[in-house]
Amino acid sequence: MKIAMVGSGYVGLVSGACFADFGHDVVCIDKDPSKIERLNAGVMPIYEPGLAELVAGNVKAGRLSFTTDLASGIAGAQAIFIAVGTPSRRGDGHADLSFVRAVAQEVGENLSSPAVIVTKSTVPVGTGDEVERIVADTGTQVRFAVASNPEFLREGAAIEDFKRPDRIVIGTQDEWAREVMNAVYRPLFLNRAPILFTSRRSSELIKYAANAFLAVKITFINEMADLCEKVGGNVQDVARGIGMDNRIGSKFLHAGPGYGGSCFPKDTLALLKTAEDYDSPTRIVEAVVKVNDSRKRAMGRKVVDALGGPGQARGKHVALLGLTFKPNTDDMRDAPSIAIAQTLSDAGITVAAYDPEGMEAAAPLMPGVAMKTSAYDAIAQADAVVIVTEWDAFRALDFDRIKALAKAPVLVDLRNIYQPDDIRAKGFTYSSIGRP
Ligand SMILES: NC(=O)c1ccc[n+]([C@@H]2O[C@H](COP(=O)([O-])OP(=O)(O)OC[C@H]3O[C@@H](n4cnc5c(N)ncnc54)[C@H](O)[C@@H]3O)[C@@H](O)[C@H]2O)c1
Repeated sequence: MKIAMVGSGYVGLVSGACFADFGHDVVCIDKDPSKIERLNAGVMPIYEPGLAELVAGNVKAGRLSFTTDLASGIAGAQAIFIAVGTPSRRGDGHADLSFVRAVAQEVGENLSSPAVIVTKSTVPVGTGDEVERIVADTGTQVRFAVASNPEFLREGAAIEDFKRPDRIVIGTQDEWAREVMNAVYRPLFLNRAPILFTSRRSSELIKYAANAFLAVKITFINEMADLCEKVGGNVQDVARGIGMDNRIGSKFLHAGPGYGGSCFPKDTLALLKTAEDYDSPTRIVEAVVKVNDSRKRAMGRKVVDALGGPGQARGKHVALLGLTFKPNTDDMRDAPSIAIAQTLSDAGITVAAYDPEGMEAAAPLMPGVAMKTSAYDAIAQADAVVIVTEWDAFRALDFDRIKALAKAPVLVDLRNIYQPDDIRAKGFTYSSIGRP
């Protein structure tokens, strides 16, 4: 089967490489010539574990190629995926659909053989109808159908998630589109991945509802963590205690500095906008967005407190360990580290930082922060060390070395990766999230 993937970013590249690995013939298309040049030279434009090997293997086997030319890329493809970005629209928070619309237009103008056009980008309810209209309005005489197939992969575990998904959601009521999508995902039936067919609109909403629900779960446990700090509870025990209830489940109950990343912030916002447009408010999600926004700066204030409060903290020096919104990615989109660094600098604190993969993307977002070549370089002369992202590299820090390098043994662990008693026994002033 021939598949075209329009947009070769995180989702397009991972999906394209995985489809090729299933045995399909895949062309990944992107407007960005430097991205395609790099891919053709075997250089990955993003950091994702296992991706370079997967891409190289499938390119070598002749199943995966890259181009900037959409017309030749989609020629003969039975399925054309749209996997371009849908960022927040500047000013109002609606999903910016300009990239999706542009692809629909270009596909319509260049369609040369029957194809199912599949929206994999996260798009508001009704976008499938719009894509269908745009393609039809190009006057194409070639048969096409439009389906929705939202993507649920997580950065950092993207390949595993794509190959062993909890579910595959496909929104279409067109029999031919259903057959084509069944053929696309047939290799996954062997892994018994459940496939859920729904209407196109339900499928579009499932993606937003899933992300919003997960955002609610994280924000809920974050608020429980704050309450634990006030009443002397331990949020990890609370999370374990509620997570053992199958109706609740143990995942996504790790208290931390607030959610960030390329999806939750923009998708929760876009859902609010859709709800507003249809006069059907989603008050729970509204509250979650507000609470999460204010949490990031609150984390900065937590560090200021660890330095003795605003008066004492001014002029001090802090080391941030981890900048990306989560480990095993170089993605900095809406990472809590950005607001934390800003809050610290607003309080007159100088900041040095180290991240194993994210510093190149982080540097322009936090111009006042000194990027260092190792965790210990960042720690030198620090009045406090802050763990912002739980990279494995920070799970076994050398605390004797930290004591020797830092000005003061102060550790703020925003990911709860250490045990308070252990670290205090090493002579550190230690604070974490929702634990005594
Ligand atoms: N990143 C994730 O973890 C994730 C997970 C699930 C869903 N999604 C959704 O998938 C979509 C893509 O996200 P991403 O993170 O891969 O974005 P991205 O920004 O990494 O990649 C988008 C790519 O599309 C390309 N592009 C833009 N316009 C184009 C055009 N007209 N023709 C060809 N290429 C074009 C860009 O150059 C870019 O390389 C978004 O809707 C996102 O919400 C992302």
